[in-house]
Amino acid sequence: MALSASMVSRVFIFAFFFSSFTAAQQKFSIFDVRKYGAVGDGRQDNTQAFLRAWEDACRFKGKARFYVAAGIYMLGSVNFIGPCFGRLEFQLKGVLRAPSWSGHSDSWITFRYIDKLVMRGGATGALDGQGEYAWQLNDCHKNANCPAIPTTLRLEFISYSRVHHIRSINSKNSHIVLFGCDNVNISNIRLSAPYNSPNTDGIKIGSSTAIRITNSIIGTGDDCVAVLPGSKDILVSNVTCAPGHGFSVGSLGRSQKEENVTGFTVQNCTVSNSTNGIRIKTWESPYSSVASGFIFQDIFMKDVENPIIIDQMYCPYPPCNKQSPSHVQVKDVLYKNIWGTSSTEVAVSLSCSSALPCENVVLKDINLNFQGSGGPAKSQCSFVNGLSYGQQRPPSCL
Ligand SMILES: *[C@@H]1O[C@H](CO)[C@@H](O)[C@H](O)[C@H]1NC(C)=O
Ligand SMILES: *[C@@H]1O[C@H](CO)[C@@H](O)[C@H](O)[C@H]1NC(C)=O
Ligand SMILES: *[C@@H]1O[C@H](CO)[C@@H](O)[C@H](O)[C@H]1NC(C)=O
Ligand SMILES: *[C@@H]1O[C@H](CO)[C@@H](O)[C@H](O)[C@H]1NC(C)=O
Ligand SMILES: *[C@@H]1O[C@H](CO)[C@@H](O)[C@H](O)[C@H]1NC(C)=O
Repeated sequence: MALSASMVSRVFIFAFFFSSFTAAQQKFSIFDVRKYGAVGDGRQDNTQAFLRAWEDACRFKGKARFYVAAGIYMLGSVNFIGPCFGRLEFQLKGVLRAPSWSGHSDSWITFRYIDKLVMRGGATGALDGQGEYAWQLNDCHKNANCPAIPTTLRLEFISYSRVHHIRSINSKNSHIVLFGCDNVNISNIRLSAPYNSPNTDGIKIGSSTAIRITNSIIGTGDDCVAVLPGSKDILVSNVTCAPGHGFSVGSLGRSQKEENVTGFTVQNCTVSNSTNGIRIKTWESPYSSVASGFIFQDIFMKDVENPIIIDQMYCPYPPCNKQSPSHVQVKDVLYKNIWGTSSTEVAVSLSCSSALPCENVVLKDINLNFQGSGGPAKSQCSFVNGLSYGQQRPPSCL
């Protein structure tokens, strides 16, 4: 029996529909910002085009890919707000460039209330904060009317998500801030700003749980990673911090009713040409909380001013309100296999609170050298309980 032309076309149409249906289940639908009027010419403002593309991508009920092709896209402050209807991937092949000054705002690019977000760059994707002008305004302790200066990328209430292969350069303020996030993996990112750019923290984490930062390079003018109140189960692994102010807990105890910090591990990292290596810092105040469960291991320090430091009299600029010793209880801290060079004489400084001494601080296999006048390297302890074993250079004060 010969097939009629109409039967052939019906079979063909059926097959076509079937295959496009299965393809749609597997593939992403692309929301290309250029289709919404964006132009990557480094001149045109693309804020509205990006927001329109986001609206459609976020309402799409399948897998949506928000796509930024190569080019330089000028972009004002944007809030990408969920929840979205399907899975969302934000793919950045181009460079997003902030205006050099856009008035007062806390954040440049914000993602909020999104589950299973993937944000990825690649060899070319970058966020350019154009911070040079803002840095002059960001010396807040000298400036009573300090303006709000935007963070480059703010992730708020983001869960089960990944951010990878993204570059951020010259942020005006912090590069990345996470708040209220749960289970976010950040990997293969590169953050850079000059060593003397004020407040350009690499990644600040507050009120967040299960955050992993791996295989990344951070060089900036403030803390490479700072873990703030309410952080729990944070991991930093194979990250280079150079230059910067090191990996920090705090500052804590600055305000009332702060949440505890529980569980922070830094491993397999390098800190170089930095003011601090691993630092725990708390203000002298009556505000109490607990900071506990720290593992700092397999860390190479090169020319770091304070490789290992607990500072419970933190006050970066006067006048300091020393009304009370710190009421942040620091406990269960392990420093293991930390080696390299200190650029000052005191390589290990554990300066805890007279009201609540540090508990269970353990030093194991420390080998930090200082080559300069006043050497060899020394360690300094006050109000700290704990023990040391294995190699101890400088000699332990515990
Ligand atoms: C993050 O990484 C950990 C360890 O590889 C993995 O178990 C977890 O599922 C990852 N989370 C996401 C959201 O990719
Ligand atoms: C460590 O991170 C660097 C920089 O991202 C990467 O090139 C390297 O492969 C990572 N090493 C491991 C063991 O994952
Ligand atoms: C902080 O930890 C202490 C000791 O585990 C606990 O008593 C206190 O309730 C915690 N604070 C908060 C805000 O969870
Ligand atoms: C540290 O890095 C080394 C080599 O890059 C690797 O073999 C090892 O598994 C890493 N350790 C951890 C705890 O990531
Ligand atoms: C180290 O940091 C200083 C500023 O503190 C900078 O001038 C210098 O170029 C850096 N050196 C290296 C080798 O990165």
